[in-house]
This record gives sequence, C-alpha cells and structure tokens, in this order.
Amino acid sequence: MTKAGPVGVGIVGAGMISDFYLENLTRFPDIRVLRIADIDAERAQASAEKWSVPSAATTDELLADPDVEIVLNLTIPAAHAPVSTAALEAGKHVWSEKPIAVDRESARALVDLAAERGLLLGVAPDTLLGRGWQAAMRAIRSGAIGAPLTAVTSFQWQGPDWFHANPEFLFTQGGGPIFDMGPYYVSALVHLLGPIAKVAATGRTGQPKRQIRLGARKGTEFLVDVFTHVSFLTEFEQGGAAQSLLSFDTALFRHGVFEINGTEGTMFLPDPNRFDGEIRIARPLEKFERPIEQQWETIGSAGPEAGRGLGVLDMARHIRSGGSHIATGDLGLHVLDTLITVEESAMRGEFLSVQSSVEPVPSLPEAFDPFQAAL
Ligand SMILES: NC(=O)c1ccc[n+]([C@@H]2O[C@H](COP(=O)([O-])OP(=O)(O)OC[C@H]3O[C@@H](n4cnc5c(N)ncnc54)[C@H](O)[C@@H]3O)[C@@H](O)[C@H]2O)c1
Repeated sequence: MTKAGPVGVGIVGAGMISDFYLENLTRFPDIRVLRIADIDAERAQASAEKWSVPSAATTDELLADPDVEIVLNLTIPAAHAPVSTAALEAGKHVWSEKPIAVDRESARALVDLAAERGLLLGVAPDTLLGRGWQAAMRAIRSGAIGAPLTAVTSFQWQGPDWFHANPEFLFTQGGGPIFDMGPYYVSALVHLLGPIAKVAATGRTGQPKRQIRLGARKGTEFLVDVFTHVSFLTEFEQGGAAQSLLSFDTALFRHGVFEINGTEGTMFLPDPNRFDGEIRIARPLEKFERPIEQQWETIGSAGPEAGRGLGVLDMARHIRSGGSHIATGDLGLHVLDTLITVEESAMRGEFLSVQSSVEPVPSLPEAFDPFQAAL
C-alpha cells in the first residue's frame, strides 16, 4: 500500500549527535520519529523520554516495525555498514551519519543493495543543505565569482578528545581528521567543483597516545592509530584544483576556512560543518598600490533555520514524491573513496587516482521550507 503524509523514522544510535537530529526531526511536520534503539538500552530509553518519542526499542524491533520507513543510522563509523545493511535488508530507506562505511567494498555494497531494493540511501553531511551553503552555491551557480577554478580549505584544532566523552572512535579506523571532518570539506568541494580525479597527501600522527578530557572516563589514555595532521591536494575531473588541511594537531583553533577562487572573485563560504554563516566575496584589485585595498562584498549571512536532519527531511519528501534527494549514497561513496585515497596517498607518498565518480550535485529549490508541511 502506498503511504502518504509524514514519514516514519526510527533512530539507531542514541549518542552525542542524536540530540542534534532529534531537536529538529521532532519539529519537522513531515517527519514522525517513532522509535529509538541503541545497544545500550538505557541510553535509548533516556533519549525516548527526553524527546517524547513513543518507543525505545531494540534494533530488531525497530526494523520489524512497518511504520518505520527511514532508519537513521547514528552509530559509530565501524557500525555504519552492518546497521545500514540490516536496515536495507529489512526494506527500510536509510540515512547514515558519515562516513558511509569504513572501507570501499562495504560502501559500494550498500549503494548497490539500496539500488537493487529500490530504496533511498542518504549519507551525512547535510550541513550543505543549510541556508548558508545553499545561498553560496546559488550565488556561485549564478556567476557571482565568474567561473570557479580552485579552492583553499582548512580545518584545524587540538582535536575532539577535548569535547567527546567517548572519543576513541575518532582516533581509529573510520576516524581521524580524514574521516571525521573530511566528509564535510570533500563533500563541499564535490558540490562546487564536481567529482575528484586525483589526490596527493602527506600525513602525520602528532601524539601516539591521547587522554579523555571529560566525562566519567576522564584521564583514560588511549592509542591513536590514524593520521592526525593531513595536508592534501585535489585535482577535479572538470579541471579544478584544491589544497586542504585537516588537523587534530594544532593549538590554533581555525575551523571552516573555505575559499573558492573564480575568474571574477574569491568567495569566502560558510563553515561546511555548520548550517549558517556569512558569504563574502573579495574582488580583484583595481590597482597595485600600498596599502593594498581589497574590495569586499557581503553577499549575505544566513541564519540556521534548521540544522541536522535536513538531509533526512529531503529524503523523506523524495520518498513520497519520487526522484532523488541531494545527499545520496553515491556521493557518500565517492567522498569515502576520495578520503581513503587521501590516506593511501599519505602512506605511499604518491599522487593517486580516485576510482569512483559521481553525477553533479543539485541544489534545493529556493522555496524549500522545512517547517511547511509538504506531504
Ligand atoms: N558528536 C558529534 O559532534 C558528531 C557530529 C557530526 C557527526 N557525528 C557522527 O555521528 C556518529 C555518532 O557519533 P556520536 O558522537 O553520536 O557517537 P557516540 O559514541 O556518542 O554515540 C554512538 C551511539 O551508537 C551506539 N551504537 C554503537 N554501535 C551500535 C550498534 N551496532 N547498534 C546500535 N547502537 C550502536 C552506541 O552505544 C552509542 O550510544 C558518528 O558517525 C560521527 O561521525 C558526530
């Protein structure tokens, strides 16, 4: 039977990020959060109570519920592929936190399984569906900086062991700045400059051991088995080029540096890990004279009308209307493939070709309103 109206969602993984999703998903009229599951049953129960979700469940109960149409996979990276596979096999559409998986084969298998079953697979980040990034991308596509050519991006600080009470997953396979923060920056680069053809990277591990800085396990030491400072160059299929830094190893806190150089200006874009931000354009100098007088234009600043969950909402609306949502599994696969290639390049000290590609990424319609019922 074809369903109509709001789309039922079940969440697997009631950890730190789940609150950010729930804050929005419980307010979108086109979504109904029906169940929350976690291997830690108490955590699922506490979250269901906090957000007035009708049921805390086991993952099996959640997957057996015919009213759950989308499974939101908010588990840790190593569990993404197994949980998403089980959900697709149970006939559910899936939205997964990033990265889609921790290896290429599992990611490819997920994309194929979703296609085979006629189900939608979506992968974070959905920050790029926020008002800030959508406004910036519309401006670029309407020629605000001429033809976009190259990009400079930087994300750097001392690392997430300073804010996460269970940070070990961020310093092991599927984590590190490459896989934790890389998805935001590389997805944004693909949105703007198209699929990636080649990368060259260097990587370092600043500290082989770290310490948990907060929470019940404060003071616990753990081993770091990933690069924590990575610089990489990117060549795009359509000719663009970018240079990027991803680091958990600098005292300096500098997040969200994202600049695109076009033939007629350099645009400073919002932080790709946020839903808001200012968009400014530097115009070419009219004359070369000290002091340098750069002309700046502020294109606008976009407030965070809604945050995490926009990608789930976009998917939900496409489940009812047909067609493809924006943050697809294909994009998640290409981003993961690129990030693994970055890691391999840093290990081997060579330029490496990226094997996968992806279709150009569309934008949301300008009138997209998460709080206006559309279903
Ligand atoms: N914390 C953040 O600020 C943040 C921001 C953006 C994205 N993310 C992404 O969100 C995901 C989750 O991160 P988090 O910070 O919430 O982690 P977390 O460790 O706080 O929470 C993960 C939860 O998943 C549960 N879980 C693990 N394996 C499971 C399984 N097989 N079945 C059911 N439950 C399982 C854990 O018990 C835990 O409650 C990660 O992919 C991370 O990259 C986190």
